Amino acid sequence: MLLLTGATGLVGSTLLRRLVAEGTEVRCLVRDPRRLGPLRVRVQIALGDLTDPPSFRNALRGVQTVVHLAAAIRDQPRGSIEELDGIATWRMVEAAERRGVERFVFFSALGASPHHRTRALRAKALAEQAVGEADLRSTVFAPSIIYAPGDPWLTLLERMAWLPLMPVSGGGRAAFQPIWAEDVADCVVAALRVDSSAAHERYELAGPETLSHTDMVRLLLRSLGRRRPLVHIPTPVVSRGLRTLERLLGPSAFATWDEAELMEVSMTSARGAADAEGLGVTPQRMAAVLGTR
Ligand SMILES: NC(=O)c1ccc[n+]([C@@H]2O[C@H](COP(=O)([O-])OP(=O)(O)OC[C@H]3O[C@@H](n4cnc5c(N)ncnc54)[C@H](OP(=O)(O)O)[C@@H]3O)[C@@H](O)[C@H]2O)c1
Repeated sequence: MLLLTGATGLVGSTLLRRLVAEGTEVRCLVRDPRRLGPLRVRVQIALGDLTDPPSFRNALRGVQTVVHLAAAIRDQPRGSIEELDGIATWRMVEAAERRGVERFVFFSALGASPHHRTRALRAKALAEQAVGEADLRSTVFAPSIIYAPGDPWLTLLERMAWLPLMPVSGGGRAAFQPIWAEDVADCVVAALRVDSSAAHERYELAGPETLSHTDMVRLLLRSLGRRRPLVHIPTPVVSRGLRTLERLLGPSAFATWDEAELMEVSMTSARGAADAEGLGVTPQRMAAVLGTR
């Protein structure tokens, strides 16, 4: 039995399709099973929440492999980013050790470090450390930005692209190696098949090209066939504006500063697409996925 957390998310939903298709027995730890769509009748469901560690214990019964994707880049009413991305992973891996789980697959992020500028990447670094120190086989993926047409990030950009001027937070110079969610899911499936004696493996997941935030916005505009002048909004203005919005609207804010700040820090791997290729996956260029030349 494989326990998948984050099965309703961008990577999780893509991965779940593959796992179910190949006949893997999957249990999904979810807050709301309806968000699994039609696949909910083909998996076991464990109701749970990252902020509710007792829910991990039931979910882990009889499980050999955990794929832990659930995470958040904005605070939730029941847990901060630090609790959701850092402490919850530590608790999950501890519970997995106690339940005799053999393998723990975890998604960190490129550039995560305890001194990182962003809260999410500081929390990921601590989580990665907890996973690496655990007494079970672990596989860590550290991806650059992951995208798919219609995902929440590209949908937000598409909506903003209706404005006469396209706003970009800050200078837009941070560098990314965007990787398509389908390629990421292929990498996870391939890694799950690797029969290694290594106690800890780590894969950096990056697409085949390095693009700045501004490049990615331009590419999206081209794919939509919309010509818009870009307007760079100074970081302090974005930060103040989004913090105020979050204070006023709480979880229903269309964007938060913690999310926007992630677009101001580079997420690149010196190895480029080599780790994905080592798993037999050739990541696609963003332009090809979005249908742009
Ligand atoms: N997307 C990227 O660019 C990127 C880059 C680097 C690293 N990563 C990491 O890769 C992994 C997968 O990312 P993703 O883009 O697929 O994430 P995502 O689309 O944001 O999905 C997050 C998942 O976590 C679940 N979740 C959130 N809060 C939860 C809670 N309190 N309790 C239980 N489940 C909760 C969500 O479930 P609900 O449906 O209930 O909300 C959803 O299934 C994450 O660990 C992420 O940090 C992503």
